[in-house]
Amino acid sequence: MYKLLKPLIFSLDPELAHNIGVIFIKRGIFNFFNTIPSEKLAVRVGNIDFPTPIGLAAGFDKNAEIFDEIFKIGFGFVEAGTVTPRPQYGNPKPRIFRLKEDSALINKLGFNNVGLDEFVSNIVKINPLDNYQKIGANLGPNKDSVNRIDDYVEGIRRVSKIVDYITINISSPNTENLRDFENSNIVELLKEIESNRLDDTPIFIKISPDIENKQISSVIESAIKHKMNGLIVSNTSKDRRFGLKSKNIPKDGGLSGAPILSLVNEKLSFAYSVGKNSIPIIGVGGVSSGADAYKKIKLGASLVQLYTSLVYEGPSLISKINNDLVELMKLDGVSNLSEVVGTTKLKP
Ligand SMILES: Cc1cc2nc3c(=O)[nH]c(=O)nc-3n(C[C@H](O)[C@H](O)[C@H](O)COP(=O)(O)O)c2cc1C
Repeated sequence: MYKLLKPLIFSLDPELAHNIGVIFIKRGIFNFFNTIPSEKLAVRVGNIDFPTPIGLAAGFDKNAEIFDEIFKIGFGFVEAGTVTPRPQYGNPKPRIFRLKEDSALINKLGFNNVGLDEFVSNIVKINPLDNYQKIGANLGPNKDSVNRIDDYVEGIRRVSKIVDYITINISSPNTENLRDFENSNIVELLKEIESNRLDDTPIFIKISPDIENKQISSVIESAIKHKMNGLIVSNTSKDRRFGLKSKNIPKDGGLSGAPILSLVNEKLSFAYSVGKNSIPIIGVGGVSSGADAYKKIKLGASLVQLYTSLVYEGPSLISKINNDLVELMKLDGVSNLSEVVGTTKLKP
């Protein structure tokens, strides 16, 4: 079905296509699916039980409007957001670009979203804590905020009681200087977060794939010290040195999809070797098959997210990934995915 519709969808501007998709999803187009992942895929990370480790990465359901509908295609969790305290238009359009020959996207959206008030009321309306699939809220600061740390803290205060986990996004390439938090500023940020936590809702830190291993080590060290509960590796890349085949590649914005897979896997493997069993890793970037997801798990990911391959392959991809994971577990004689987390290592 998606194969038939794809030429039409791809004839539209990518952001318009996405917005039309959101309308159809809201109206129940995913009712055709109602996929229940195999019980064999259930994993426990921190204090949360996920029905499958496969989740939708941040940026698709920016305003937490459709996550309950998205669950129907087989995701174990959806990360809504990024949400900022106040509503924000984002960067001028056009701001999403398809790199078809590379199965990739570049986006420079700049945290377009409805703001915390509407985001929170959308979540409360759906009442997700009743679901067996899980919902995360990805938090960011407003572009013109005078104190970005306060913005994160406000986000935590507003969403802690209504979501299963929180992500602190310090790695979008589209908000100027946001990635400074991946340097020494991380200490001040995480200290404030630790002292302003309301409860034990897990908090994950999302990093970029463009940082040096040294920085990854120091982010992990601070994250453990300040009792963060996970590290998401990673956001989109500012780099363009991936041998891309597409023409007219925008210079600005973050690259996602197939080309970033091996870079992100290197960072993931390194992060796992540093964090070991002290901090779970959520692997994201370039996953488009069950084999890709399984590889990330073997490299150290306890959970896996994706976004770009959903655009290229369509909604049936998720049940295929779930089914393929079950087959791969069978081949390895594994009864729970936690047994294979971090069992292989990439050569540095
Ligand atoms: C159009 C688009 C919008 C995105 N928006 C966000 C966002 O708001 N917050 C965030 O943390 N990541 C955002 N991301 C990054 C994804 O969550 C993910 O980290 C990245 O795309 C790598 O995964 P993928 O290769 O499976 O797409 C966005 C990605 C895309 C393609």
